[in-house]
Amino acid sequence: MFGEQKVSFSGVQPSGNLTIGNYLGAIRNFKEYSEQYKTFYCVVDEHAITVRQVPADLRRRTYETLALYLACGLDPQKNTLYVQSMVHEHAELGWILNCFTMFGELSRMTQFKDKSARHADNINAGLFTYPVLMAADILLYQTDVVPVGIDQVQHVELCRDIANRFNQIYPDTFTIPTAMLAKNGKKIMSLADPEKKMSKSDENQNAVVYILDDRDTIIRKFKRAVTDSGSEIRFDPQKPGVSNLITIYSCFTGKSIEEIEREFEGKGYGDFKLAVGEVTADALADVQSRYREFLSDKAQLEAQMKRGAEEASYYARRTLSKVQKKLGFVQIH
Ligand code: TYM
Repeated sequence: MFGEQKVSFSGVQPSGNLTIGNYLGAIRNFKEYSEQYKTFYCVVDEHAITVRQVPADLRRRTYETLALYLACGLDPQKNTLYVQSMVHEHAELGWILNCFTMFGELSRMTQFKDKSARHADNINAGLFTYPVLMAADILLYQTDVVPVGIDQVQHVELCRDIANRFNQIYPDTFTIPTAMLAKNGKKIMSLADPEKKMSKSDENQNAVVYILDDRDTIIRKFKRAVTDSGSEIRFDPQKPGVSNLITIYSCFTGKSIEEIEREFEGKGYGDFKLAVGEVTADALADVQSRYREFLSDKAQLEAQMKRGAEEASYYARRTLSKVQKKLGFVQIH
């Protein structure tokens, strides 16, 4: 909360091509808050370097992620859109919060366990303290709500614990944030293995639909999606493949599960998969054409990065300075 205004904050890593999971679970919902909240949406490049990145790719994806924010309808007049590394307060508060986070807490983070298994040759300290930097992102802006997919909820819970711990020692420092999940789409699953989250770092290209996939690719990927035995189009935990496709169809059409089950009664998986592919391609077509426009104007994107960082810094500085003062750091004005 800044003054009377509630705050929404979230971030996306520029660590790969963004998927419909990122879109439906997070980015699409960022906009919901932009009318009534003060909103900050960040491209979190500092988080991305917890795994090795090719510098040119990281740079390119940072531009692309900002262009996608704009293409998804985030109006830069209503939302502060910026790049994390351009606002140095994130890293500074991150360090401070490291001193208020317990080793045991970080050891319990499931994403750390997953990622350290996948990158066994590079289990660096940044991978371990990743959620602390995320807490700093959120707390710098006195955030009330954090729109995220379900995989980030554990990190937001840790952020709340850190903020409460800090507030107990130094009262009234941070607003305590709440994770906000999309009603539909909080966990989009892989098309190849519906027990697994759809992830931008998946090596199997057929498991993932990217926001920027062309129409034919989208339809082909859905045609190949793993479904379950039987032939009924029914939402059922026993049928995770079909249920995931129903969720995606529902997200893109706004239809309820019951409506969808009725619409496809008596029809086979083939018809249904084609329909899911078509509505997805239709819905993404607009985003894709706007994206190409935004991406083609690099100077405009850079101007936005600069403006966004200046706006964000103003708020970040206020919180950081309050924290430093409470801790006993000397401040000379
Ligand atoms: P990242 O970059 O992995 O994902 C960005 C957002 O997309 C959501 N998401 C999904 N939602 C539904 N279904 C899926 N299959 C799916 N895959 C990804 C994620 O939950 C996320 O909301 N640590 C964060 C980035 C971050 C952040 C923050 C988020 C850094 N600081 C502060 C919120 C607040 C991450 O790696 O997201």
